[in-house]
Amino acid sequence: MRTIAMVNQKGGCGKTTTAINTAAAFAAQRQRVLLIDLDPQAHATIGLGYDPDSFECTVYDLLRGSVQTLHGVVVHTETEGLDLVPCNVLLASAELELGSVAGKELLLARGIESAGRDYDFCVIDCPPSLGVLTLNALVASTDIIVPVQVHYYALEGLKRLLETIRIIRERFHPCSMENISLLLTFVEERRTFSRQIQQQMRDIFGDLVFDAVIHRDVRLAESPSAGESILTYGPTSRGAVDYSALARELTHAAAPTDRPSAGTTIRRGIQKHLVNLFDGVWVPKENRAYYPGIIEST
Ligand SMILES: Nc1ncnc2c1ncn2[C@@H]1O[C@H](COP(=O)(O)OP(=O)(O)OP(=O)(O)O)[C@@H](O)[C@H]1O
Ligand SMILES: [Mg+2]
Repeated sequence: MRTIAMVNQKGGCGKTTTAINTAAAFAAQRQRVLLIDLDPQAHATIGLGYDPDSFECTVYDLLRGSVQTLHGVVVHTETEGLDLVPCNVLLASAELELGSVAGKELLLARGIESAGRDYDFCVIDCPPSLGVLTLNALVASTDIIVPVQVHYYALEGLKRLLETIRIIRERFHPCSMENISLLLTFVEERRTFSRQIQQQMRDIFGDLVFDAVIHRDVRLAESPSAGESILTYGPTSRGAVDYSALARELTHAAAPTDRPSAGTTIRRGIQKHLVNLFDGVWVPKENRAYYPGIIEST
């Protein structure tokens, strides 16, 4: 089973949208998928049409070990092949409650240990923070997707985030190759500025960036209010096409252990583009206009 976590401490960059719709796109491609809502905001649960307060057991119980099996918290959604581990606001107390538990970072990994028997993919929606919940997702996952909104401050915080993910993965996941990829979201091809930033991201991060991009599409913003994924809400929409392409790219990508590590990719990027992302930032002159925050911090 591939376990894919959507991670970015920045709010509103498309984590939940990507979690729901990538999971639905996998299901449409006849994969068996488990979507885990690990954000106390419960947006993935709501986005699939559920009332978070209607559940007796949620991912919170899975983390606390108060349900014995994964089956005790799984909901079969209306989409064939797509199951959900829901969440509600009670999860907010997990950060405090679990903070002092020994092995707190392993709770989710243990909770979904048996999932490999029933699912091909597990997709985890994380909150916009790097607390104990995201830590659990980082430890439990084989792949990490960092959605990055293509805008003026696209790179702000990204270097530190990748660094943090790398350190956590090295510490808790020593046997696994890092498999971190960046997904460009809210792309607007018609805007020169969006195209330029997209190109800059590819220049800097190289093949860390998915070929597939997610365009800005109002149907993607509307679909949660209908409680549906974009695959059923707007099957011919740009969003559906984009998320289907992302799911295909993920399905066809080599298994995580066969892919180069993110570190390798970044170092290759550094040589090629003379941008050192880990040891002080140097950005080529022609790119500087886009990253004032980073230039200032060097
Ligand atoms: N490609 C897109 N085009 C248009 N609207 C989008 C797109 N992606 C996401 N949105 C909308 O932008 C808002 C933020 O997206 P989303 O909730 O997926 O971000 P998030 O990273 O999960 O946010 P948070 O950090 O709060 O959990 C939502 O209203 C969503 O419907
Ligand atoms: Mg979200």
